[in-house]
Amino acid sequence: MTTLRLRPEDPADTGPVRRVLAAAFARPDVATPPEVGLVDELRDSDAWIPELAMVAEYGGEVVGYALLTRVRVKSDGDPTPAPALALGPVGVAPHRQRVGHGTAVVQAALDAATELGERLVVVLGNPAYYRRFGFGRADRMGLTSPWSGLGEPWQALVLPPATSDAPAPPQGEVLFPPPWSKV
Ligand SMILES: CC(C)(COP(=O)(O)OP(=O)(O)OC[C@H]1O[C@@H](n2cnc3c(N)ncnc32)[C@H](O)[C@@H]1OP(=O)(O)O)[C@@H](O)C(=O)NCCC(=O)NCCS
Repeated sequence: MTTLRLRPEDPADTGPVRRVLAAAFARPDVATPPEVGLVDELRDSDAWIPELAMVAEYGGEVVGYALLTRVRVKSDGDPTPAPALALGPVGVAPHRQRVGHGTAVVQAALDAATELGERLVVVLGNPAYYRRFGFGRADRMGLTSPWSGLGEPWQALVLPPATSDAPAPPQGEVLFPPPWSKV
């Protein structure tokens, strides 16, 4: 039986990941969707966390991708922004959509983040999809961003504490690194 394998990406995955994202986010008005360049730029930046770039492999083929990268949360009165994660892009090759790969690869990335002791993940996306992972409205959790005004699509998830002395999830203004300005 062919099984789905979930694992962090390795250097050989760069091309296959580009192809999966290009197909998943294909639009008639652009040759290459911006999500492809976003991942390439994040990979070359300080925001990249190798353990949290997750691929889904089916029958030896990369068919899905979920990426968590570093963002910072600036709260009033605290000079040092706190670490958090942004989820995205998330994409599944069109010929393998709607069979659970997207859910599996996102959950694998979130589980890996929990193991690393991360406390907060933000995402901009369709609430109908992300609520299955426990995401809720970020504005109601005291989190702002350039996308706060969109309301429901601006979402956040508090991860369970890995240890009893884990820091509280941060609140405040979420600061995205420069590659995010492309999307
Ligand atoms: C969104 C995406 C990652 C989901 O992956 P998938 O492997 O097809 O999804 P799964 O099989 O794990 O889950 C299927 C469920 O997601 C829902 N779903 C799929 N795409 C969705 C979308 N764009 N918005 C809302 N719900 C969606 C399905 O209705 C289905 O719901 P159900 O479980 O209640 O029946 C994939 O369809 C994709 O790559 N889409 C294009 C890229 C994209 O839009 N990515 C960002 C998502 S906000």
